[in-house]
Amino acid sequence: MHCWLLFHREVRRDVPEAAEVMRFQQAASEAGIRLDVLNPRHFELIVDGSEGWSAVYQGRRLPKPDLIIPRTGSETSYFTLAVLRHFERQGVPLVNSSGAVEAVADKLQTLQILSGAGIPIPKTILGKFPVDVNVIERELGFPVVVKTLRGTRGNGVLLCANREQFNDLANLLDGAQSGSDFIFQQYVEASHGRDVRVLVINGRAVAAMERRSTDGSFKSNISLGGVGTAFEPPSDMAELAVRVTQVLGLDVAGVDILLDRDGYRICEANSSPGFQGLEKACGISVPNEIFNAMRNRLGLPPAQRRRSSWKRLLDSLRNAVRLDSRPAPTEPAREPT
Ligand SMILES: Nc1ncnc2c1ncn2[C@@H]1O[C@H](COP(=O)(O)OP(=O)(O)O)[C@@H](O)[C@H]1O
Ligand SMILES: [Mg+2]
Repeated sequence: MHCWLLFHREVRRDVPEAAEVMRFQQAASEAGIRLDVLNPRHFELIVDGSEGWSAVYQGRRLPKPDLIIPRTGSETSYFTLAVLRHFERQGVPLVNSSGAVEAVADKLQTLQILSGAGIPIPKTILGKFPVDVNVIERELGFPVVVKTLRGTRGNGVLLCANREQFNDLANLLDGAQSGSDFIFQQYVEASHGRDVRVLVINGRAVAAMERRSTDGSFKSNISLGGVGTAFEPPSDMAELAVRVTQVLGLDVAGVDILLDRDGYRICEANSSPGFQGLEKACGISVPNEIFNAMRNRLGLPPAQRRRSSWKRLLDSLRNAVRLDSRPAPTEPAREPT
């Protein structure tokens, strides 16, 4: 299998989300999969009406892959989406599709789609400036959650305790002319500092963990110091997570579920979820799960697991030692002359 993984940053240890890309590289090399990590911004998007395959990357033509894995998440720009659509139209399967990546890159759009399908969500209002604090108080009450539309890793999310704090924040956002890049959301108090992340692949809940913050924060993100423990989701929760992915058209997703007093509420769905915490908590290889599911879907034979390079090295050392410890060949007895 030949895959492209699209990532818009450098693959270096100190770069957020690069660790996941490295895990894909490692798993691909062990499974004998050719994986090219490409930056979507480095493609030339040439639409010329011809029928054939066209992919120009940094001035070079690239052969057609079997599969494209976009790992650009909520930072997917218009250009990247156009690149995804370009290859989708040329018949390359994407996990996830451009439409699904676009739908979940915007937290409000995700919630609009889910709410339209009757899936429980926290009540949410799109920011409009100047903000009418009375509407916020009446519809959502305080404390209230404030989020940027495209935040990730818990960075663009905060809790406003009361009307005064909210007024200060609203004035600040208004002064900064932030436009409508914010949503205000009902605070699901019962879920303070904990939620459940379910990994869904091809319509199956593959693994789940409960995440808890360790510093009293209402946010449970692992990237902010939250801890994850393996969790067996009850069947209604697993079914809900799967339904979320179906409604949003996601083949692979990390679905975040808040635990309210009267049931579950979907916080968000991630099209390229971080998974270091999940791998640690659940002892699975997320890239392998994805590769295997996609091989199945593409009708390709299962992976022939290759020995890792250190194993190959170890084996060759072992062989060398074995050779050395063989008794030295004895001189052939000479026939007396
Ligand atoms: N409405 C809410 N009520 C309670 N906790 C919330 C709410 N929204 C988010 N959280 C907490 O904040 C975390 C981060 O929010 P989320 O919308 O998933 O942003 P991000 O995309 O940055 O992870 C969630 O995992 C959850 O723990
Ligand atoms: Mg989240």
